[in-house]
Amino acid sequence: MKAGASYQIVTLNEFIINRQAEHPEARGDLSRLLHHIGIAAKIVNKKINKAGLVDILGAAGAVNVQGEDVKKLDVFANDHFIAAVKASGEVCAIASEENQEILILDDGLSRDGHYIFCMDPLDGSSNIEVNVSVGTIFSIYRRVTPGGERPDLSDFLQPGLRQVAAGYVIYGSSTMLVYTTGNGVDGFTLDPGIGEFCLSHPDIQTPENGRIYSINEGNYVHFPPGVKRYIKYCQEIDPQSSRPYTSRYIGSLVSDFHRNLLHGGIFIYPETQASPEGKLRLLYECNPIAYIAEHAGGRATNGSQRTLEQVPESLHQRVPFYVGSSAMVDKVHEFLRLSEAP
Ligand code: AHG
Ligand code: MN
Ligand code: MN
Repeated sequence: MKAGASYQIVTLNEFIINRQAEHPEARGDLSRLLHHIGIAAKIVNKKINKAGLVDILGAAGAVNVQGEDVKKLDVFANDHFIAAVKASGEVCAIASEENQEILILDDGLSRDGHYIFCMDPLDGSSNIEVNVSVGTIFSIYRRVTPGGERPDLSDFLQPGLRQVAAGYVIYGSSTMLVYTTGNGVDGFTLDPGIGEFCLSHPDIQTPENGRIYSINEGNYVHFPPGVKRYIKYCQEIDPQSSRPYTSRYIGSLVSDFHRNLLHGGIFIYPETQASPEGKLRLLYECNPIAYIAEHAGGRATNGSQRTLEQVPESLHQRVPFYVGSSAMVDKVHEFLRLSEAP
């Protein structure tokens, strides 16, 4: 570095501490949890980057040279995020896509933890073997059961509006962590040289309108009529509204959402004949993504109701999901309403 040169790097941990200092009433416990999430993200990132070597190192289900079972990457990610959340001592129970039941953390500090944690430890995992981006999605709530008592399902069946923080990690051409505590959405890119997440996308605002639509069009015949009409609308020529739009679909919610968040667009996973409730999970896919979308100026619904207002009925509940630029979500709603009209 030249004499007098300065650097402007803000690391994730510094950012978390600064935010806490701006809000002296906020306690350090959420900061500690976010710090540990950052550590798990780095561990999972390292593992995912080596995924291509799986044939050399031993395929999932096989036994490696140390005689240990080689775990599937989603199990690996699950284990490491659980370990990180436990290490923070701030969380009394966890819900994960990989666990049928809630996981109660009743040892040490965790028993009195103020928070519960929901996660999809590896989203888009079928993309790993073809080297396409995957992610981790997480969501944090205050518990509703009294501290010291055994947490239960009621802690998890809270509407998404009650989230105190939500975020995702995208393991892509760069690895990024994006999160919000309800006070702006900020993105951090992992600098592999120094092993730190560095603030790269402060205060993300999603465009009000966009020209990307993301939906699995292979399911077209099974879509509700309003969605079919909206897709046709996206494909019509209208230079004034930049149509036809561009179709982009990776098949990894985190990656599809992240691109649309930055560029403007809409992601839709509607109900279909095969999945009448939709495919995506309310607690650990839709709610955290919806919370981020709204705090970046976007919208998220199930086609009629705001996602964050839905009261969950079960841990692994699926819902239809419409998320992205506000003008685009409003537009698809128009089509949905029109097709319902008698
Ligand atoms: P997961 O890998 O956690 O099971 O999630 C996959 C999800 C989501 O990431 C993606 O948007 C969607 O499945 C894709 O589904 P289709 O293959 O049906 O399009
Ligand atoms: Mn998923
Ligand atoms: Mn998953």
